[in-house]
Amino acid sequence: MQIPQHLAIIMDGNGRWAEQRHLPRILGHRKGVETVQAIVGECLELGIGCLTLYAFSSENWGRPQEEVEALMGLLGTFLKKELSQINDRGIRLMAVGELHRLPKSISKILKESIKKTSGNDRMVLNLALSYGSRNELTRAMQVLGREIADGRMQAEQITEADIEAALDTHGIPDPDLLIRTSGEMRISNFLLWQMAYSELYFTEALWPDFSREHLLQALEEYSRRQRRFGLTAAQLRDTNANGGEKSH
Ligand code: FPP
Repeated sequence: MQIPQHLAIIMDGNGRWAEQRHLPRILGHRKGVETVQAIVGECLELGIGCLTLYAFSSENWGRPQEEVEALMGLLGTFLKKELSQINDRGIRLMAVGELHRLPKSISKILKESIKKTSGNDRMVLNLALSYGSRNELTRAMQVLGREIADGRMQAEQITEADIEAALDTHGIPDPDLLIRTSGEMRISNFLLWQMAYSELYFTEALWPDFSREHLLQALEEYSRRQRRFGLTAAQLRDTNANGGEKSH
């Protein structure tokens, strides 16, 4: 089975999972955290190099205050409870998004956890928090705009590598595979630049129900896909024969 170097997941369906059981939505999120814990372990075991989880979008700030507070609470508890396990298992924690918008207590634990695990190299666990791809791209363009305004760069010299370097995700490879749960077939402002060539996989399973079996099904489907990066199948065979160099 082909193992993606970078797996990104849109964890959708917590609310519906709870509503189907006539439970408050927050219990769906709580169950969702249990799935996070299980899937992190599975990814580590499978040898996935980087797992990015869409935990809270820029748009999620618009949810009822009660739900936002509950989600922040779950995130804080997760970080406090899981940090030692994350560290012991050699996982490096990262986060992308407008982290300064998070409650102070959360951004503090987050920063500390990122620092504490920065030397680990078994797997990157990248949390997208207060994240929106258009916002990330806008901030990247502001960085490059400032470089030009200050005379350190010329507009014509901007390369794809410069844009990549200005993104929150710099240093991690583009996702090879995106999984979205709950049957919705949208990207929802997630890693738009980075997913230019990602394989997309949608499953009906709601995130709290997403299990090792669902993950393996997704990886089996991914293994059957032929990633051509804009080339023909014949060219790709030649490229692979010559050491696997990829071109866009
Ligand atoms: C989508 O379900 C899920 C979210 C908006 C939040 C995801 C968060 C967690 C799983 C918990 C916190 C994460 C970590 C890493 C500790 P939804 O509420 O949109 O579901 P619905 O579409 O069924 O309403």
